[in-house]
Amino acid sequence: MPDIQADIPLTALNTFGLPAVARHYVQIRSVPQLQALVRGGALADGHVVLGGGSNTILVGDVAPVLLHVGLRGRRLIAEDEDGWCVEAAAGEGWHDFVRWTLAQGWPGLENLSLIPGTVGAAPIQNIGAYGIEMAARFESLDAVDLATGAIRRFDAAECAFGYRDSCFKGAEQGRWMIVAVRFRLPRAWSPVLDYADVADELHALGHREATPTAVSDAIIRVRQRKLPDPARIGNAGSFFKNPVVDGARLAALQAAHPNAPAYPLAGGGAKLAAGWLIDQCGWKGRAIGPVGVYERQALVLVNRGGATGADVRHAAEMIRRSVRERFGIELEPEPVFVGG
Ligand code: EPU
Repeated sequence: MPDIQADIPLTALNTFGLPAVARHYVQIRSVPQLQALVRGGALADGHVVLGGGSNTILVGDVAPVLLHVGLRGRRLIAEDEDGWCVEAAAGEGWHDFVRWTLAQGWPGLENLSLIPGTVGAAPIQNIGAYGIEMAARFESLDAVDLATGAIRRFDAAECAFGYRDSCFKGAEQGRWMIVAVRFRLPRAWSPVLDYADVADELHALGHREATPTAVSDAIIRVRQRKLPDPARIGNAGSFFKNPVVDGARLAALQAAHPNAPAYPLAGGGAKLAAGWLIDQCGWKGRAIGPVGVYERQALVLVNRGGATGADVRHAAEMIRRSVRERFGIELEPEPVFVGG
């Protein structure tokens, strides 16, 4: 296959900065190119899809064909009295796309500002921050079936979005490559300022009115304060999902720790703060070999220099074990482990 290159280093292509090599690498620049690869049998021995590499932990070299999503383009699809329908190709950077929509005067994605990664990766784990999940603004997506090359449109129900979850992480994992995503952005807009940090920052920035761009600016400042910039310190954002517990475990936790943060869920039980649990175990700011637990947010693991995927896996296991032993709660990693 002419497009496929051998032995491409991936260190600069994952935000944790982990060393690994793609034995067979191809940059996907168009849907017909991808379909030709599939139909020509290039993926017969398996494949791995890589977007912005911000939610991927490379635990070793990647032997199957690595499809690096390079699809670009964004456009207004439709406009009506309710708002705007906007489409972006999967390889567009998420944050640039958010800021572009705001510059056009189309609100709705501002709370998701500065999240690393690509537009195509956003639905896979239903990215969310500061009171909004991507699913709330989602219209539909197009994905190519990597077994047949056929393209299919998915609506929100078919994507089965959950907390940091979708069918692309579960039942359909590995089958599809998302190529374009459409969002519905509302004309009737009101700011989501549930987080005190965001409201305070808006005030500190001197904004009298919470416009979509002002909210985005505030979110950027809050994230910059709390989360490490992957361009400077390797990391993959939150390393674990916030765990969901039933009513009995919540009651037991709160009896022992009345201040434990907990977000009650409609069906009973609650979502706990994994960062708080890890912090309580004394990990915040500590190093486990070359992997650090970020000093400002214990849910984020960072590369203190020269970390490998094995180091990250080891650190994650140590943290999981102490949370399990101390609280009886199982933490589930948020990023996807690839290679090795
Ligand atoms: N906390 C601590 N110690 C810590 C970290 C957090 O006690 O070291 C406590 C905080 O004081 C707070 C609670 O835990 O009471 C929750 O912390 P925070 O508001 O920072 O949010 P989070 O639950 O840790 C989630 C998302 C983030 C998102 C923020 C803001 C997940 C796995 N993470 O973090 O998403 O930016 O809320 O909405 O749901 C990501 O997914 O990569 C990510 C950064």
